[in-house]
Parts: sequence; structure tokens; C-alpha cells
Amino acid sequence: MAFALPSLPYDKTAFGDLISEETFNFHHGKHHNAYVTKTNDAIEGTDNAGKKLSDIIKSSTGGLFNNSAQVWNHSFYWLCLSPEKKEIPAELKSRIEADFGSVDDFKAKFKEEATGHFASGWAWLVLNGDKLEITSLHDADSPVAHGMKPLLTIDVWEHAYYLDYQNARPDYVAALLDNAIDWDFVAQNLDGEGVSRADQG
Ligand SMILES: [Fe+2]
Repeated sequence: MAFALPSLPYDKTAFGDLISEETFNFHHGKHHNAYVTKTNDAIEGTDNAGKKLSDIIKSSTGGLFNNSAQVWNHSFYWLCLSPEKKEIPAELKSRIEADFGSVDDFKAKFKEEATGHFASGWAWLVLNGDKLEITSLHDADSPVAHGMKPLLTIDVWEHAYYLDYQNARPDYVAALLDNAIDWDFVAQNLDGEGVSRADQG
């Protein structure tokens, strides 16, 4: 069965100025949708038709890798966002404090990684073995291709923020990280919840 563009788990106007409806219209409705269409076109009639998205990512290269990984990364990114400001659940908070010193230190390091990433890509909080790590990956690349368990991502392609923040990537990253992350979803990803949800398209 072909992959479908997943519905957003909130209204496109729910984030106010943090992420505008216009950004969702382009980012979800045009960019993400195009990656879904191109992935479906590439797998139709091949051995990849019917496979899980993460399995396609792990076994592909070139255009199929880029498009399928972008489908997965975007599906995961939408789930990481919440229009309602949330607290970090206790277990995740203690893991963050153990590996980064404090929540403030973690946020500062994540912002530095996301802001400093050169050109297009994604900033990630991942579980690598039993340790939380912050990393960034270029273009379409995804932790699911590298054996790391993704917990949180922020899209740092210009298409994610240019309409609302122009070239001010630091402001976009800080606005999301401080106000618009679904920390309950991030905590659930310690058990792999997000991987299976984003696998659905
Ligand atoms: Fe994007």
C-alpha cells in the first residue's frame, strides 16, 4: 500500500506566530506531500512496495533514500511539536540532567547544534546505546539509518522557518524548543513509540 501524508495532530493555526498557518500550508501541504508522492512513485511495482518506511530508508540510497527519509523525518517532526507549552516528564528530565548536567545546559547545547548546522538538515536528540546525545544530520539523513533511537527533532531546512523568521534560525530554534515541544511524545520515544508512529507515513 502506498504511503499517505499524515494529518497534522493539531490545527494549522494553533501555534499563532510561533509557526504560521502559511508555513504549515507549504511545509506540510507542499514539501512533505511531495516527498510522499516521490517515495510512492519510486517504490511502485518494486520489492519496496509494502515495506515499512524505516526499512526502506535503511536499505536505499540516492533519490529513494532522500525522499523516504524526508517523509519519515517530517512525520516525526510534526509529532514532536505541541501548541500547548508542556513540562518535561520526570523520567526524561532526570535522564537529561544525568547526561547534560541540567535542562538549561541541554537546551543551550541543542540550540547551538541546530543553529550551527551548516545548510539544510535536522537537529536531533537521540538515544545512542543508553546515552542521550545531541547531533545534527545533513539534508535528508535520519537517525533511523544509523541505529540511533530518535527522541526529538527540529527541522533546520530554510523551508521550516523562512516565512516566519526569515534568516533568523536561532530565533526559530529557541521559539520551538522553549515553547512548542511535546515533551510527553519525546519521553515516549525512550520506548520507541515515535519510530512506529512515524513509520506509518
Ligand atoms: Fe522540512
